[in-house]
Amino acid sequence: MPERVYNFSPGPATLPYEVLQQASKDVINFKDSGIGLIEISHRSKEFMAVIEEAESLLRELMEIPDNYKVLFLQGGASSQFFMIPMNLLAGGKKATYLNTGTWSKKSIKEAQALADIHVAYSSEEKSFNRVPTDDEYTVDPDSEYLYFVSNNTIYGTQYAEMPKSDKMLISDMSSDILSRTFDVSKFGLIFAGAQKNLGPAGVTLVIIREDLIDTVPSDIPTMLSYKTHADKDSMFNTPPTFPIYIVGEVLKWLKDKGGVAEMEKINREKAGLLYDAIDATDYYRGHAEKESRSIMNVSFNLPTAELEQKFIAEAAAIGLSGLKGHRSIGGCRASIYNAFPREGVVKLVAFMKEFEAANPA
Ligand SMILES: Cc1ncc(COP(=O)(O)O)c(C=O)c1O
Repeated sequence: MPERVYNFSPGPATLPYEVLQQASKDVINFKDSGIGLIEISHRSKEFMAVIEEAESLLRELMEIPDNYKVLFLQGGASSQFFMIPMNLLAGGKKATYLNTGTWSKKSIKEAQALADIHVAYSSEEKSFNRVPTDDEYTVDPDSEYLYFVSNNTIYGTQYAEMPKSDKMLISDMSSDILSRTFDVSKFGLIFAGAQKNLGPAGVTLVIIREDLIDTVPSDIPTMLSYKTHADKDSMFNTPPTFPIYIVGEVLKWLKDKGGVAEMEKINREKAGLLYDAIDATDYYRGHAEKESRSIMNVSFNLPTAELEQKFIAEAAAIGLSGLKGHRSIGGCRASIYNAFPREGVVKLVAFMKEFEAANPA
């Protein structure tokens, strides 16, 4: 077994090799201090420099306007499902949600427990194989925001363009943040669990417009209030120092690669290789409708469940790991986030051709 295989895991997912190499050194002795990175105080000047650099790189790479706060929180992306309505919909306010998969469904459930939620669209009866275009739903006029999941990790669907609305947008970008350029100023809040495009599990990024922080009710638990974390620059309590450090290293790597626009080109080309392989034959069937295809997660089926099992096992044996689809839809899924190398996609495409030839339907 080689030291590293191609890891198609949906998250936690492949990270840049250079970042892991650097981290393995810094964990033992950070910047010649004789102390490992995960052993230093979060209030030390060394760690303050780490978190400040991570934030400033993120602002630069995403072109985040000055009137937004960047927060590094805990509790996973899933905690945002209730923190958003708890902080932004108190006192009988309303919001509109688009239901395009497991993660939006879960956020709708949490929000419904706390506020008046209008679900304007659902692709559930089509096993979430698509996301809507703007003319397929109506945002409730009394809504504070329109909530959507920009990339549906399980089903391999993604909005080709961010939805347009006169209401502010709120989006779960856990599985496609920093994979493509977009205009942050259309959003009230963006959040992402780190464990796909940003770093390891354990930190959740929240980008929130400052004026919203002033509207947060004062009677919610301290740790669940955006105001608490915004007022203390994510240092109200001990932040997840190691994940934040890795996020910073991943952002440096991304900047070195040419930034988000360059990464988007690479991502589109990589995904194109896989979709071309799927479209070239009836043997492989993409789960997502073409217009809704994700450039991060490619979900597909083979003619039978038995062939899928064999495909996943034989792929793993040649160093193509993590291709099993999510248990809710089965099949196969190749997650090809920013750090996933192009060579791995090329190897998968070659394997798909060989497998089809050796295993006729
Ligand atoms: C789009 C999306 N949102 C939310 C989550 C949940 O994230 P967490 O496990 O950090 O709560 C995931 C996990 O895969 C995801 O893909």
